[in-house]
Amino acid sequence: MKQTIKAAVLISGGGSNLQAFIDQVAQGTLNIEISLVVSNVADAYGLERARNANIEHDCIDHKAYSSREAFDQALMARIDQVQPDIVILAGFMRILTAEFVNHYANRLVNIHPSLLPKFTGVNTHQRAIDAGEQWHGASIHFVIPELDAGPVILQGRLPITPKDDAESLQQRIHKIEHQLYPLAIQWFAQNRLSIENDQVLLDGETSAQQLQTFDL
Ligand code: GRF
Repeated sequence: MKQTIKAAVLISGGGSNLQAFIDQVAQGTLNIEISLVVSNVADAYGLERARNANIEHDCIDHKAYSSREAFDQALMARIDQVQPDIVILAGFMRILTAEFVNHYANRLVNIHPSLLPKFTGVNTHQRAIDAGEQWHGASIHFVIPELDAGPVILQGRLPITPKDDAESLQQRIHKIEHQLYPLAIQWFAQNRLSIENDQVLLDGETSAQQLQTFDL
């Protein structure tokens, strides 16, 4: 029997990863119901995508709150109205408090544009080039209070070529993200993921499917 779980998606910008979820739900390859999209930025294009797909959506502007704690409380209260099984960070550009992260422990996921644990934080593409890396990519991981540090579910990588700059890398890695983020969420929806000793297992073991190589 197909399981459908409820997801809340948090965004701050373009929402192309959100669009990948919307498209795969429509195609029947991703068994989630996107119950809510929240942006902390009022004019984020991702909100338009939610509207076009008839998905409940809201803006909670962090600037309207006096502290990170107060913002996170408001965000949690809004998210909990839809009682999601998973909270998906898809280009959500706010650091979350430990209280928020712990509230959604083991059901809060993020995508980060690097091969974690390499290049946490920002400017990952330029930093990978500057470091002379052979590979670069994106990581989907469970979120823990420490930034960009939770157990990795799935990574996609591609070789950096001499022609690459930060812009070209970003574009190619975005394409990887659009393929792999829905896949990671589908694994979660199918209850195929578990965490043991800070490592994510797929069907009870570490799997070669958790590191995919692309030639884009
Ligand atoms: C992605 O590159 C993701 O890795 C990063 O933010 C970007 C979001 O892009 N965390 P979009 O809003 O989904 O287009």
